[in-house]
Amino acid sequence: MSFRHISKETLVGSLTIGVIFAAGYYLGKRKSPRMSISKSHCGGKDNPLLQYVLNHSLREHPVLQKLRLRTMEDSWNIMMVACEQSQFMANVAKLIRAKKIIEIGVYTGYNTLNMALTSPDDGVIIACDISEEYTSIGKPFWKEAGVEHKIDLRLQPALKTLDDLLAAGEAGTFDFVFIDADKVNYDNYYEKSLQLLRKGGVIAIDNVLWSGRVINPSPEDADTVAIDKLNKKLHKDTRISLSMLTVGDGLTLAIKL
Ligand SMILES: C[S@@+](CC[C@H](N)C(=O)[O-])C[C@H]1O[C@@H](n2cnc3c(N)ncnc32)[C@H](O)[C@@H]1O
Ligand SMILES: *[C@@H]1O[C@H](CO)[C@@H](O)[C@H](O)[C@H]1NC(C)=O
Repeated sequence: MSFRHISKETLVGSLTIGVIFAAGYYLGKRKSPRMSISKSHCGGKDNPLLQYVLNHSLREHPVLQKLRLRTMEDSWNIMMVACEQSQFMANVAKLIRAKKIIEIGVYTGYNTLNMALTSPDDGVIIACDISEEYTSIGKPFWKEAGVEHKIDLRLQPALKTLDDLLAAGEAGTFDFVFIDADKVNYDNYYEKSLQLLRKGGVIAIDNVLWSGRVINPSPEDADTVAIDKLNKKLHKDTRISLSMLTVGDGLTLAIKL
């Protein structure tokens, strides 16, 4: 695992951005109508059918389960990916024999760990986040699961990391990208990911239904506007084939043609 050396000022700035991001995410979610399938976090609380799905399909690695339970103690746990969605993405990665993976938005690294557990021993997950606080929660679990050597955590704005990869000549070499960070940058993440991906590679985009707000986006809600705009663009984008799935908070899979 490699850590970028960053200055204290950068770190404090990043932490502040991280907290503001999480607060916006949380408030946005609270005032939203209940229109989505919603995240399970492996409970499926008031949805018996989802409970059935989880009861009959979820196979959580013991350390992954420990990380989930630890994440549930964190105040921003609403940001964690849905377990069944994470398992699905790990299966897609397995299906395409993904070796080089990028996670844009790590939080406590539940999905990062799942991808690391799924990928071959010489696989790599470029893990992009700006929050040392959140990612530090996950690190001990990555280590405990024996896969920390596959996780390359880069603590700086994800756009910078993607640009670094492009500058290093890694365009066309990645197999799988998961986009799950700040929504206003989604289109930028998508365009850069498409460049980094090989043909047949997959971009998974989270929160494409944004709790149902995409149906009627209010113009001053920048996050919803950005997601809706990208959804419309992808529908017509001839560089990819796609599916929009109603798992979690909505997941689009885009396959590079
Ligand atoms: C929804 S959470 C990610 C959840 C994670 N994929 C999982 O499996 O649980 C979003 C994360 O994006 C990070 N983030 C926000 N803005 C960012 C940026 N500009 N660059 C990188 N990460 C960012 C936040 O710190 C937060 O940890
Ligand atoms: C799922 O499993 C839990 C725990 O065993 C149980 O309480 C619940 O009734 C099950 N629900 C369904 C729909 O299978």
